[in-house]
Amino acid sequence: MPQALTLPSLTPSQGVALECVTLQRGSTPVFEALSLQLNEPRIGVIGDNGAGKSSLFRLISGLDQPQSGRVCVPDGQQPVGMMFQNPDDQIIFPTVEEELALSLQHLRLPRAQAQQQVRDWLHARGLAHWAPRAIGSLSQGQRQHVCWLALMLASHRVLLLDEPFASLDLPSQALLRQDLTRAQPQIMVSTHVLGHVRHFERVIWLDRGRVRADGLGVDVCAAYEADVALRTALN
Ligand SMILES: Nc1ncnc2c1ncn2[C@@H]1O[C@H](COP(=O)(O)OP(=O)(O)OP(=O)(O)O)[C@@H](O)[C@H]1O
Ligand SMILES: [Mg+2]
Repeated sequence: MPQALTLPSLTPSQGVALECVTLQRGSTPVFEALSLQLNEPRIGVIGDNGAGKSSLFRLISGLDQPQSGRVCVPDGQQPVGMMFQNPDDQIIFPTVEEELALSLQHLRLPRAQAQQQVRDWLHARGLAHWAPRAIGSLSQGQRQHVCWLALMLASHRVLLLDEPFASLDLPSQALLRQDLTRAQPQIMVSTHVLGHVRHFERVIWLDRGRVRADGLGVDVCAAYEADVALRTALN
């Protein structure tokens, strides 16, 4: 069996790649010899509960190591940022401004200056009142929103958003969709709401750890919907 090697750097143009990756989480085999080259600017990841969407993102972000195979990401400082399915897995600090200031770490600013930049940035987004808020006083959807703000402030080359719309109200979903359209980094989004990725140039349908379909968002989403309709049809 080949040895596991994780996060060797590729040249920037080569993007994210998984080469013959095997992953086991606890006693559960998740991926067996999975290979993917992930270059497109926007990639959707869909599939049933337990299909492997979060596991794929955990591999790419380096949170989990494959038992064998290679996971390759672009060069750079903290090249990959991940928005967790559960915001409480991501947030560290007690207030919004402190949490967001962490995203500016790479600038090596004095703490007060970083927090001022955060306040100015929040002000520009019409969210000045959020800066001093205690994280614990925010709703689930608001905490999810903070996680997205944190990712936007950081300068990652690749963003992995694991069901980012799940707790957001409709206005916040619309804002996130706008942000996704405008953002510079490569972005991968896992979601159960296919309308959020149907227009993507590439969507991957994972089915029990295997790639069931991989192609244009409109085609792959239609194939998944047809399969779900078949599986859930009343006899
Ligand atoms: N912490 C864990 N320990 C052991 N096995 C896990 C763990 N988390 C997930 N798994 C298993 O790994 C497989 C893939 O799970 P994963 O969380 O990647 O699925 P998912 O597609 O993100 O599902 P969902 O739509 O529910 O978020 C499943 O079989 C699951 O039971
Ligand atoms: Mg998941």
